[in-house]
Amino acid sequence: MSLPTPFYADELVTLYNADALEILAELAPGDVDHVVTDPPYQTTGTSWATRASSWADTMNTAHWFTSWYRHVTRILPEHGSFWSCCNWRTLPIVQRAAHDARLDVTSVAVWHKDAIRTGSPRGLRSDHELIAIMAKSAFRISDRSAGDVWTIKTSTKKAHGHPAEKPLAIPARIIDLIQPAPGQVILDPFSGSGTTAEAAKRRGLKVIAVEADSAWCDTIARRLAATPPPA
Ligand SMILES: C[S@@+](CC[C@H](N)C(=O)[O-])C[C@H]1O[C@@H](n2cnc3c(N)ncnc32)[C@H](O)[C@@H]1O
Repeated sequence: MSLPTPFYADELVTLYNADALEILAELAPGDVDHVVTDPPYQTTGTSWATRASSWADTMNTAHWFTSWYRHVTRILPEHGSFWSCCNWRTLPIVQRAAHDARLDVTSVAVWHKDAIRTGSPRGLRSDHELIAIMAKSAFRISDRSAGDVWTIKTSTKKAHGHPAEKPLAIPARIIDLIQPAPGQVILDPFSGSGTTAEAAKRRGLKVIAVEADSAWCDTIARRLAATPPPA
């Protein structure tokens, strides 16, 4: 198999409507410089509510994560970095998959959402998600004083309607910390509404975006067509 016809392409963005694993399998070492993504977390509240299946589900999900993390290990150059959103339930999945794919989790950033909502009666109001950072050996962060707690306000209203849509400020901050050299390529294999792709295009970076759901590809294409590259 070779890469399919893109669903959308412009001077900076190439979007594939495909399974991320199919596209990752076709990419060669050095085709991308950094991976910035927000994969499906795959652990549902129902699974965790039924104690018997929760740990088994977590480990099955870790196998799937390992299968695509291994491609990330294969294609990233030594100056590359991998940023993978997760939460406290899925951090063990990320750690397990990173170990099996020979990636080092070099930091975990806490995204403090500063959101107004009510918590569960048995626990605390959930106000954060996580971003695991897996840097290859020659990656150098642009700001060594940057901390690992990021307060980025979120609202329940999603600008592009995706239920898991992240604020644009998250991939924008990641790209600030990477400071990719001109011509470097960002890959987001789980693009959703295209937030990472928009942040990359706004910086004049090339981006390869993949999304399995064609309805979200329509959204990404509209969103990216309306995003101007920097003047
Ligand atoms: C957590 S969402 C990403 C949201 C995104 N960060 C945003 O701001 O809109 C994950 C996305 O991955 C897509 N997805 C799930 N499995 C996939 C697969 N195997 N290949 C490609 N995309 C997939 C889902 O359709 C979903 O849109």
